[in-house]
Amino acid sequence: MITVALTKGRLFKDFLKYMSENDLADYSTALEDETRSLYTIVNNVKFIFAKGPDVPTYVESGVADLGIVGSDIITENPFNILNVSQLPFGDCHFSVAALPGQESFGVIATKYTNIAKEHFKNKKQDISLIHLNGSVELAPLLGLSDGIVDIVQTGSTLKDNGLVEYEKIMDIHARLIANKRTFYTKEDEIYGFLTEIGVIE
Ligand code: PRP
Repeated sequence: MITVALTKGRLFKDFLKYMSENDLADYSTALEDETRSLYTIVNNVKFIFAKGPDVPTYVESGVADLGIVGSDIITENPFNILNVSQLPFGDCHFSVAALPGQESFGVIATKYTNIAKEHFKNKKQDISLIHLNGSVELAPLLGLSDGIVDIVQTGSTLKDNGLVEYEKIMDIHARLIANKRTFYTKEDEIYGFLTEIGVIE
């Protein structure tokens, strides 16, 4: 059996949609029914449900053989994993956002301090960073920061909070990651699964 680490957030919905659109109903139906479980087994594949930032930790340790994770997470923090391929879903991007009319960005709030730091360093812009764990849109609304660096997908979270995008930083995609050892020791099972779900031919 192989173990695949998934996250229950936005990427999970995109993965289910991808599976149902690609005639993989055994997987999508079984996974859809498991929204409250910690793991489930479908066709001899064990799927574990973790928080996004923890998916690479499970894969790096070998507790999971494969993982599906946003490139945001593995760009923000390096892990000792195989970054196998880009997946055809989960597209969004990082942006700098703020209230309309903001003239300068001295203080930025974000969950992604490494990505934000690198971006402003490349632009030779001196900024202070405030690390938050979520709901970062609150920071400029309350005056904690001048702007935010955050993920934008549909743009509706920004719009609902009266914020606008100032600058796109980078694209984000879903990535398939693998454990560096078991990718080879369980090669047949892993390739079987990846072929079945249409990730490799
Ligand atoms: C991200 C991001 C925004 C939202 C943007 O949060 O932080 O809040 O999605 O999406 P939209 O452009 O489609 O509105 P995420 O769902 O990843 O979870 P989080 O709130 O834990 O950061």
